[in-house]
Amino acid sequence: MAGGAIVDTAGGKQYPGKLTLYVVFTCVVASTGGLIFGYDIGISGGVTSMDPFLLKFFPEVYRQKQAASKSNQYCQYDNQLLQAFTSSLYLAALVASFFASAVTRILGRKWSMLAGGFTFLVGAALNGAAQNVAMLIVGRMLLGVGIGFANQSVPVYLSEMAPAHLRGMLNIGFQLMITIGILAAELINYGTNKIKGGHGWRVSLALAAVPAVIITVGALFLPDTPNSLMERGHPEASRRMLRRIRGTDDIGEEYADLVAAREISKQVQHPWRNILMRKYRAQLTMAVLIPFFQQVSGINVINFYAPVLFETLGFKGDASLLSSVMTGGVLVLGSVVSMFTVDRLGRRKLFLQGGAQMLVSQIAVGTLIAVRFGTSGVGEMPRGYAAAVVLFICVYVAGFVWSWGALGWLVPSEIFPLEIRSAGQSITVSVNMLFTFVIAQAFLTMLCHMKFGLFYFFAGWVVIMTAFVALFLPETKNVPMEEMVLVWKGHWFWSRFIGDADDIHTGKIVMDRGA
Ligand code: BGC
Repeated sequence: MAGGAIVDTAGGKQYPGKLTLYVVFTCVVASTGGLIFGYDIGISGGVTSMDPFLLKFFPEVYRQKQAASKSNQYCQYDNQLLQAFTSSLYLAALVASFFASAVTRILGRKWSMLAGGFTFLVGAALNGAAQNVAMLIVGRMLLGVGIGFANQSVPVYLSEMAPAHLRGMLNIGFQLMITIGILAAELINYGTNKIKGGHGWRVSLALAAVPAVIITVGALFLPDTPNSLMERGHPEASRRMLRRIRGTDDIGEEYADLVAAREISKQVQHPWRNILMRKYRAQLTMAVLIPFFQQVSGINVINFYAPVLFETLGFKGDASLLSSVMTGGVLVLGSVVSMFTVDRLGRRKLFLQGGAQMLVSQIAVGTLIAVRFGTSGVGEMPRGYAAAVVLFICVYVAGFVWSWGALGWLVPSEIFPLEIRSAGQSITVSVNMLFTFVIAQAFLTMLCHMKFGLFYFFAGWVVIMTAFVALFLPETKNVPMEEMVLVWKGHWFWSRFIGDADDIHTGKIVMDRGA
């Protein structure tokens, strides 16, 4: 089938070494960087559906919500300022990821993580103490800066530490932590919503400090990756680290590839200008399109606004939080599924299967809502019917998380050559944040105008992105990171962008006809 070129790991390169406890430990610690991102995604929706929070900061929305209970269900939360609360974070993260690129490259992955955790901590304190909308929004911007730094460094760190044949599993630890963060946030919202006196929202926002402390303290103890040590001109330290993480002295070949990668990287003074070169066209395309597609799948409509969505469907207060806890649970389980299948099935199979599952369930959700609420948005949903909607939403969420969710971070982090890795990852983070922002900002307005058609809209994107993977994304499972050029060179489309002189590696390329 078109698009499936892989380096045959049976006949190609495989470095010696095993999965050491040390690697597992460092990767678990580094993955906790995902907690801050997840906590934030999960907390906003619940907080913005709490009446005391709305009354204090967004009284207009509160009045609108009361008035809407008998009229148009699609429009009750449509308010720009409320959306700015949710989305300001993503703009800050977008900008921060460019600064993070320089820190990650020049000082190492570890310092980026530390900076991320610490800034997030300050943001959490400001939010928990917020007296007015300005404090809320400035606090969220600091959270955003933290996320920009963490998402820039953590996925790359994990992919570099992991042995090639387990890179998918260890990297998806990041997605697992994101989803644990989301679930924890949803459970916390469920609990704080019951706090008397109307301060539950404050507890929810302040508790963001917990994951922030975890990654900040964790990062203090993390070693840097051999790749980063090498890139920064410490070959001996790089060699020592490689020995330690692979648990063997037989690291000659992997080390030689790092030296080769470093030689190229030394010649590159301007990663930002370099990434535009023809030979990096494949990587640049993926750096932009993978995060873009991840977001236009519509997932964050569910994550941010699940409680709002469930209320719209007729669940009241508690029930809506409970339903979003369900989707949070599915997210966590789905990430585990992905961790244990990604290095065996490969990335492409998960993308294609997940895409099909998302498509079917989105069409089902759109249609179920259309039948009850039509275009007027006026209607009621019987319990059993609403349960069917929730069920399809869960099927959709599962399909997303083990495909685009996990792989949307894994694949970009593993495909860039060392000399443009930090710059490439920044592009991925910023595109991701930009479209997370666009969706967060636009969703409530889109729901109000496009109504149930919104679900068909996202389904349309799922068709496009699944076709894109089928045609243009080669399989990267088991391929050592500093050998990745071979994958593009063996691809029916991308090979035309890479000249023989661009490939300094040796290795065996075979066409994968089955993928
Ligand atoms: C995405 C987020 C999403 C999360 C959980 C991540 O991979 O980047 O936007 O909210 O998965 O669904």
